[in-house]
Amino acid sequence: MTVLVAYASALGSTREIAQHIASRMEAARAGVECRSVDEVDSVSGYGAVVVGSAIHNQAWLPPALEFLAQHGPELAKRPVWAFSVGMSEGLPKLFRGRGAVLQQQRLEQTQFQAVPLRGHGLFSGVYEASQLSAPLRALFRLAGGRFGDLRDWAAIDDWTDGITAELAKPASPRPEA
Ligand SMILES: Cc1cc2nc3c(=O)[nH]c(=O)nc-3n(C[C@H](O)[C@H](O)[C@H](O)COP(=O)(O)O)c2cc1C
Repeated sequence: MTVLVAYASALGSTREIAQHIASRMEAARAGVECRSVDEVDSVSGYGAVVVGSAIHNQAWLPPALEFLAQHGPELAKRPVWAFSVGMSEGLPKLFRGRGAVLQQQRLEQTQFQAVPLRGHGLFSGVYEASQLSAPLRALFRLAGGRFGDLRDWAAIDDWTDGITAELAKPASPRPEA
């Protein structure tokens, strides 16, 4: 069974996370493909799908939302996990944990209606000072926010290993008609 790891990334950090997830899964089980959502014509050849997107303005990138809409019926027939990449680890310390929880809940309530998910991971990516205007950058820093590569590879590994373990379980028998 081949697993698809699909991603939508604006500046590359989500792509690198997707590639890392795919490599780690591949080391534990054969058959993993990593592709941009734009490169995927059909998911019907895959046994399971992991799909992730950068977050812009509290939403997935349009190509990732198009992927969910276009492949919704096929995705619903197989196990699907999603991951979202934002910058909650860059928030002022006081808001970091709560901000992540709220963002994860908001995304789950608004983005994934068409596809039942086995799980949804929220990770921080790369947030550079150059992504904000000079006044906002100064304000963000004054409030205690931080920029940089905020990726927590250990958390990403844990999440990936959970999926690999789920996929290794024997499929439960279908109830008899
Ligand atoms: C225009 C823009 C809007 C963003 N909006 C959000 C947001 O609403 N929530 C969040 O957590 N991160 C937000 N971010 C941070 C990005 O999600 C983060 O930098 C991520 O690592 C980008 O992934 P990419 O490198 O794959 O594009 C935003 C970044 C940009 C450039």
